Amino acid sequence: MLKCYTTSSAEETIELGKKIGALLSISDVILLTGDLSAGKTTLTKGIGLGLGVNKIINSPTFTIVKEYKGKCPLYHLDLYRLDGLNNDFDLEEYIEGDGVCVIEWPYQVEEILPKEYLEINLKRLSEFERSIELKANGRHYEEVLKEL
Ligand SMILES: Nc1ncnc2c1ncn2[C@@H]1O[C@H](COP(=O)(O)OP(=O)(O)O)[C@@H](O)[C@H]1O
Ligand SMILES: [Mg+2]
Repeated sequence: MLKCYTTSSAEETIELGKKIGALLSISDVILLTGDLSAGKTTLTKGIGLGLGVNKIINSPTFTIVKEYKGKCPLYHLDLYRLDGLNNDFDLEEYIEGDGVCVIEWPYQVEEILPKEYLEINLKRLSEFERSIELKANGRHYEEVLKEL
């Protein structure tokens, strides 16, 4: 299943993220794709709000992963600077962990991604417009998209 949205401001993207976040639960995996500045981290801020995270979510670019407390833990990963699998970093620990896992630049670790996930692709249409395409891979995520 595929759902497409267009937002006209960062706030609108956060609102959409909030709705997505409210539908997520432990061990869900969200893959975020799209160029730099497409809005992946902005959408994650909303997902965090929907999960009840009350800290501000910023780009974890220099730390690979940041963990937040919400109704369940949120692991926000940014693999942009991950040096393939040579890096001393255990993704499975987060994917199999007891939280929601949001991954920017997931195809850095294609080999170890789970079989089922919600993939969200963001595209910059103009300065403030973004297309946001959600694709469910697996029945659980189909249900999430139906609710959205
Ligand atoms: N509709 C929109 N949705 C998301 N971000 C937007 C939108 N319009 C403008 N922006 C701006 O684009 C930038 C997106 O940055 P960010 O979310 O960090 O992107 P990424 O994580 O994909 O690199 C922010 O500066 C944000 O304010
Ligand atoms: Mg980012």
